[in-house]
Amino acid sequence: MWKLFHTLDGNMLSRFSSLFKTKAKTKPLSPLSTSEDVKNFYNNNTDKFIKVYGEIIQAFRTKDVKDYLTYTITNAELKDGQKILDAGCGVGGPAGYFASQLNVDIKGITISDYQVTKSKEILAQKILKGSVEILQGDYHKIDSIFGENVFDRVLFLESFGHSSRQSFLLEKAFKVLKPGGILYIKDLFKREHPNEEDGKKIDAIINAINQAYSYNVADFTEVIKTIRKLNFILLFVKTPEVVTEQFEHLTISNDFQNLFDIGKIISWENYIFPIDFYEIKLMKPPFDINKEKHLYFLNRPEITS
Ligand SMILES: C[S@@+](CC[C@H](N)C(=O)[O-])C[C@H]1O[C@@H](n2cnc3c(N)ncnc32)[C@H](O)[C@@H]1O
Repeated sequence: MWKLFHTLDGNMLSRFSSLFKTKAKTKPLSPLSTSEDVKNFYNNNTDKFIKVYGEIIQAFRTKDVKDYLTYTITNAELKDGQKILDAGCGVGGPAGYFASQLNVDIKGITISDYQVTKSKEILAQKILKGSVEILQGDYHKIDSIFGENVFDRVLFLESFGHSSRQSFLLEKAFKVLKPGGILYIKDLFKREHPNEEDGKKIDAIINAINQAYSYNVADFTEVIKTIRKLNFILLFVKTPEVVTEQFEHLTISNDFQNLFDIGKIISWENYIFPIDFYEIKLMKPPFDINKEKHLYFLNRPEITS
């Protein structure tokens, strides 16, 4: 990531920084966005996202977004024969790509009924090796919708941070995963306060992002605490590794904000880049850690030879 920052020229840096443009005057801390708020947000704005982002609604991406999805396949270890839950699946763009490359059975869930309608149009145009089914529903209820111990993979691709109950959501993801299954989260996380003054600015910008995008930008420390409490096996946490030439430099987010005046900044005077992008990869232990409390785990139990 450092390399990335250092290799950006001034123009790129300004475009990079403009990912979340905020009005200079931010409102006081607002209540957390609810699932209903998020549903309304996507029912009202999905066409705008499609216009700028296409069928992949992710800010951190490569110029050719397929390169980023291929990277996701590798890092989330998506493989033929798996049953995958794409939690917060948008209009089915990522699921459609994964199932065009692999013989996988993907269930996608989005809170927006409008996105479900759009996903049908988008998926109808694809030739799939596997299958994709997109449902309207709340990802906080995935255990009652899909049952427990059913998925090899659960993915949150820039969708986790919409949740106002993130610990609860992680519990649900744990439940629906098969033992040995992998939870893969790619999202943005609030930057730690480098000092008091910058911390106040970061908080104000995060507040504006949350309001503009119906988001609840996650606190990394809280997420890690919950992950450990749930006994997930932490496989890695890292900043996505994208080579500079392929990186899209967040220009899409910039275009989106300018075009639709969502989260637009007026002044750069107090702007501090407020977030970190991370990939978090976790495994549900292959045995019941609450019953077999005397056991520890191997990092990758399935890799035995
Ligand atoms: C930024 S978009 C990312 C979409 C998709 N992952 C992609 O890469 O194109 C966030 C997605 O999270 C979904 N989402 C947010 N809150 C949700 C909830 N409570 N239940 C289900 N989906 C939700 C939204 O409907 C939207 O599809």
